[in-house]
Amino acid sequence: MSSDHAKIVMQRLDALAQISEDDGQTTRIFASPAMRRTNHDVGLWMREAGMSVRVDAVGNLIGHYPAAQPDGKILLLGSHLDTVRDAGKFDGPLGVLVAIACVQQLHDSKTRLPFAIEVVGFADEEGVRFQSAYLGSRALAGTFDPEDLKRTDAKGITMAEAIREFGGNPDAIASAKGDVNRLLGYAEVHIEQGPVLEQKNLAVGVVSAIAGQTRARISFLGQAGHAGTVPMNLRRDALAAAAEFILAVESLGQNRGGLVATVGEIAALPGASNVIPGEARLSLDVRHPDDATRVKACHELKSRAEEIASERDVKWKWETVHESAAVVCNRRLTLLLENAVKRQQPEAPLLASGAGHDAAAMSALCPVAMLFVRCQGGISHNPAESASAADVRVAVAVMNDFIVQLARPA
Ligand code: GLV
Ligand code: MN
Ligand code: MN
Repeated sequence: MSSDHAKIVMQRLDALAQISEDDGQTTRIFASPAMRRTNHDVGLWMREAGMSVRVDAVGNLIGHYPAAQPDGKILLLGSHLDTVRDAGKFDGPLGVLVAIACVQQLHDSKTRLPFAIEVVGFADEEGVRFQSAYLGSRALAGTFDPEDLKRTDAKGITMAEAIREFGGNPDAIASAKGDVNRLLGYAEVHIEQGPVLEQKNLAVGVVSAIAGQTRARISFLGQAGHAGTVPMNLRRDALAAAAEFILAVESLGQNRGGLVATVGEIAALPGASNVIPGEARLSLDVRHPDDATRVKACHELKSRAEEIASERDVKWKWETVHESAAVVCNRRLTLLLENAVKRQQPEAPLLASGAGHDAAAMSALCPVAMLFVRCQGGISHNPAESASAADVRVAVAVMNDFIVQLARPA
């Protein structure tokens, strides 16, 4: 391996972007054939960097670089390897590949640290297939809810079946929990997914906190009917009710400081141009740095759904499928990252993350810290997502420095 680790990270990001369920796009959902290939290829890179590799019961890929002594503690590094639909190259894989680059440098210089490093490629952070955000990191953190195994994907396959088909063991997910007594912490590098670092003209920044989020599946149930014969005043159109609700979601987000609220998916059933929709299903994603404000917003949206349904004589259902509290990053690890950043650039800005990250779930298990890398135009969850090799080089240098600081006797 050449010594330009950032260049190799960029090449590997390009290679992973080709591993997809959809031709011409990058889409890797949980427990899919594309994830199997990804685990295989990333596993090879982990081995090249001197790590032993395992896949846990839920499908997380874990590379282990041993400590100088067998009883050493463990530093976890990583991010997720799954993607949204039609994703960019960086969201997730960047954190895994930068971590591997750091370990590669230790391996090349035959350096063993007082602690082991485990690089984790989480199997599912985006939750695209089962609306199960942080699924991989919740398994490692020991907060996985076995009830989720009953969830079904769009084809009716349960999560338990998907895990089994992938080679995992749905009955042994509790065994994936990390040993809290051995863990020093978890540090994650991630593309910023926003415009702040670009505006500040800085390569990297340190994350102070991660916003909480609620995700729900909502349905409106009216009556399907003939689009040509049922008079307008006799209709119980489920999609029209959903449309009104979507505007209410947007308006709440616009009028409450710091709140973001999104309907990202919608389906009209039975789904034909000459049939009045009998059912509309939609997703809802609500986030705010303050948990109480987020919870209140969800209550208000439920009341709005109730009002709309009753005005239109349709029924409605709300199923909360994910809820995570806001998380503050660990002070000590964050300070180490800030020190390292200041050795690479004039200042170490602290940024709050509106996006969710595996670090949020991992905070239930151990101290967490995060480094953000400048994102071109702030664009993410989009194939145009981009970060420069120069900035990735800074991220690798910061993480190397962070590891060295942690390895120093206190
Ligand atoms: C994950 O990337 C999220 O913030 O939705
Ligand atoms: Mn994402
Ligand atoms: Mn991500």
